[in-house]
Amino acid sequence: KKLLAGLDVGGTKCAVVLGEETENHQVKVIAREAFPTPGTPEEAIRKMSQQLSGLVESQENAVLQAIGISCGGPLDSRKGVILSPPNLPNWDNIDIVSPLKDVFDVPVALQNDANACALAEWKWGAGAGLENVIFLTFGTGMGAGLLLNGRLYSGSNDMAGEVGHIRLEEDGPIGYGKAGSFEGFCSGGGIARFAKKEVEQHLRQGKTTSICSSMEELDTITAKGVAEAALSGDELAIIIYETVGRKLGKGLAVLIDILNPERIIIGSIYLRQEKLLQPAMLQELEKEALSLSRNVCSIVPSGLGEAVGDLASLSVAKYVLDITV
Ligand code: BGC
Ligand code: NA
Repeated sequence: KKLLAGLDVGGTKCAVVLGEETENHQVKVIAREAFPTPGTPEEAIRKMSQQLSGLVESQENAVLQAIGISCGGPLDSRKGVILSPPNLPNWDNIDIVSPLKDVFDVPVALQNDANACALAEWKWGAGAGLENVIFLTFGTGMGAGLLLNGRLYSGSNDMAGEVGHIRLEEDGPIGYGKAGSFEGFCSGGGIARFAKKEVEQHLRQGKTTSICSSMEELDTITAKGVAEAALSGDELAIIIYETVGRKLGKGLAVLIDILNPERIIIGSIYLRQEKLLQPAMLQELEKEALSLSRNVCSIVPSGLGEAVGDLASLSVAKYVLDITV
């Protein structure tokens, strides 16, 4: 059995997956392990490496062919080094490729997570057959993978698509080290920080919300909790998600005006909360983006769904295998 391995290094969790290529050039996930991202990069790499060995050994007659790693940037995909991702605070100049090559002796490649998701959606998901596709992560962080003219566009030093850093407002929740940025409004941590501030004000005015009932609990607010409150009718929670939807529309308008894509595919939080986000997002787009560009661009949740992260790292493995053999 010929296998591909994918490692997904996230700000909150790491996943190790094994995939098998099927006859029609799809990849099927056949084994998977996930765990909270350890405190140090050394520990994370050691643990992923151990888990991968275990998964490979548990398969009969298995030959590992390549390893793909998907991780939030900034990173240097040519050198295989993770530079200084905002959502992996103590990862700084970490060579993740060499230690894995040493252990497994197969081709290993590193790619930005958003780029990897764009590749996976383009090969197997909502981007199949299209020439100009953008993938937006909208999870722990906000990043874009840009597939332009049928090729991944990564810029002069792998920094293309770092859209989380774009400032949307003079003020607002902090994300990517910047108040009012795209990642500040449109990421899990950003939504939580934004909600915390709104709820605090609300409680000070003596009003109530089902998001959280007391000042002591402000720190327990999560993006998911606010979404649940909104779905059960909480007015403040609905307003928070509408605001986030509008900021998302504003960010999308910038991408649409510059790049004129056919499709923008959005993962994680948009995938789960499209109903809450879509109306305000579309309204804002209508206002902000050129209609000639907007009219040819569809905005859809990830076609690979919750599996996009796994398939993203596997698509990086597939890619490095294809160029080395
Ligand atoms: C990183 C991007 C990444 C995104 C999603 C951002 O904070 O800088 O490189 O694609 O998060 O993980
Ligand atoms: Na990118």
